[in-house]
Amino acid sequence: MREVVRVSETVRETPSTVTLRFRYAEPALPGQFVMLWLPGDDELPMSLSFSEGPEKGVTIKAMGDTSRRILAVRSGDAVGVRGPYGRGFDLSPHRILIVAGGSGAAVLAPAAEAAIARGAKVSVALGATTAPELLFERRFAAMGATVVTATDDGTSGERGFVTGPAERLLAAGGFEAVWTCGPEVMMVKVAERARAHGVPSFGSVERHMKCALGMCDACAFGPFHVCTDGPVFGADRLAQVPEFGKFHRGPSGGAIPF
Ligand SMILES: Cc1cc2nc3c(=O)[nH]c(=O)nc-3n(C[C@H](O)[C@H](O)[C@H](O)COP(=O)(O)OP(=O)(O)OC[C@H]3O[C@@H](n4cnc5c(N)ncnc54)[C@H](O)[C@@H]3O)c2cc1C
Ligand code: FES
Repeated sequence: MREVVRVSETVRETPSTVTLRFRYAEPALPGQFVMLWLPGDDELPMSLSFSEGPEKGVTIKAMGDTSRRILAVRSGDAVGVRGPYGRGFDLSPHRILIVAGGSGAAVLAPAAEAAIARGAKVSVALGATTAPELLFERRFAAMGATVVTATDDGTSGERGFVTGPAERLLAAGGFEAVWTCGPEVMMVKVAERARAHGVPSFGSVERHMKCALGMCDACAFGPFHVCTDGPVFGADRLAQVPEFGKFHRGPSGGAIPF
């Protein structure tokens, strides 16, 4: 499905992220993404940060020119949406640890909501550079998740990387799954620690995309396409991708180190 929709609301979530809400009735699973474009402009893949019901949402961080232009959108403006695409999270585990770095919380929040609605207990280790950049901290708490934070500058929770509190939660035991999204170097570490504790882990991966249909190869990721095999991959599959945590590819396929 593809449709040009009107933005119903824009919400500033943190100094660097804004949520766009819009009515898009196509059903979606937590972890899936849409291709979003401004009419006459380029399109970008965006995880659904609100995937339940007809009122969807994406939460965007300013990165390059295209994301900055999308961030300039206001209520009532038109945006194009196609999708949803990709594979989301398996919602069957009952005890889940979420490790979110920066805007990675965008894809993990709707997954946590769906898991809690099915009766799961969810703990969240939420990291950011500084306290105001902690994305969806209140949303996670309001849905009933237990939240611990870490910030680079120590303005909330532990000073340092979110992998610190995540490791302590894993060591306390009892988790059936770890879900993670954030900088890939962080996701590599989370997958390593989850494996060390014998817990299956799943990471949501970002790569440059064009078709989102498994046809153009823009999102090649080892033997996989992120658009159709992911964006959520189990650690066993991530272990088959030599570039995971090391580099991604630009629009022409050239490697760009993280
Ligand atoms: C499945 C999927 C879901 C996504 N969900 C979201 C989301 O919910 N919110 C959101 O803000 N963005 C999300 N993205 C990223 C988004 O699609 C764009 O890649 C991002 O907004 C940058 O686009 P740009 O054209 O503005 O910047 P560009 O000009 O392409 O890049 C700006 C800078 O960011 C770097 N960069 C671009 N892509 C990546 C990457 N994959 N990894 C590391 N660095 C990169 C570039 O090297 C450059 O330095 C998602 C991507 C994918 C594939
Ligand atoms: S974006 Fe074209 S194959 Fe994935």
